[in-house]
Amino acid sequence: MSQRHLVSIDDLTVAEVAGLIRLAGKVKADPDSYRTALAGQSLAMIFEKSSTRTRVSFEVGMVQLGGHALFLSTRDIQLGRGEPISDTAQVLSRYVDGIMARTFAHADVVALAEHGSIPVINGLTDDLHPCQAMADYFTLSEIFGNLQGRRIAYLGDGNNMAHSLMLGAPKVGMDIAIASPEGYQVEDRFAAQARQAAEAAGTQVVLTTDPKEAVAGASAVYTDVFASMGQEEESAKRLADLAGYQVDEALMAAAASDAIFLHCLPAHRGEEVTAEVADGAQSRIFDQAENRLHAQKAIMLWSMGGVTL
Ligand code: CP
Ligand code: NVA
Repeated sequence: MSQRHLVSIDDLTVAEVAGLIRLAGKVKADPDSYRTALAGQSLAMIFEKSSTRTRVSFEVGMVQLGGHALFLSTRDIQLGRGEPISDTAQVLSRYVDGIMARTFAHADVVALAEHGSIPVINGLTDDLHPCQAMADYFTLSEIFGNLQGRRIAYLGDGNNMAHSLMLGAPKVGMDIAIASPEGYQVEDRFAAQARQAAEAAGTQVVLTTDPKEAVAGASAVYTDVFASMGQEEESAKRLADLAGYQVDEALMAAAASDAIFLHCLPAHRGEEVTAEVADGAQSRIFDQAENRLHAQKAIMLWSMGGVTL
């Protein structure tokens, strides 16, 4: 059997996304049934960038499944001193049962999957953040049930988060509208993939520069930082260029009356979102963070544990 990697949501079928969301729900409701599911297995966690949620939720998730996780900062392993990614993938494949990696270059996660012989899970690259988007669609399905025909609006930088939400929306039957200013829009190649998936699913992908247009009728309003990891030196310019895309109470009022606010975190209150919204009644940001754990346990059960969806 070919390896079950999670490099991009676009690699998953509609049925696989639905199956993973269902499994995340089962794992959350009955964690005891999965205590030994990955007994004796190890997950190597390669981190080239900082992390709170991804690191902790994967490590705790592995422990809760009966396995073990190794935190491997590229500051400490030979990869950071120039050992080829292909050698790293082959060596780790001799020791562990899965790799989760957070890198700058998306090509590095792709290379780990190509050169290793074990499942690889993308823990965020400059291009994509599929585990977060899977957790988010799980969160949305918990709140709204069937997501078919609902709309998610994403405001701000057309970054890794925007890409993964855009690729995931058609897989769960949602329309997605993304509002970003010129120069900060999602990359064309991901928009093309999303449009193809949307055509197959009968959903819509709307790209606009108008925040009000994006949030109209939306069940969820989502944003992310204006400067992602690796873009720190552009922060001042990005803050100025993206200022009109802040999610505030007026914008939330322009969404559906039962709309929720989502953010992958970490959040910069006063920049991409006001404190009133981030900490307000419509915010579900900590449910999202919790659901990383359950969704990723489902992903590991599927990819490393061979669980049928
Ligand atoms: N949302 C997310 O991936 O958070 P971390 O950077 O803390 O892992
Ligand atoms: N877009 C953000 C997401 C952090 C979870 C970044 O890449 O820094």
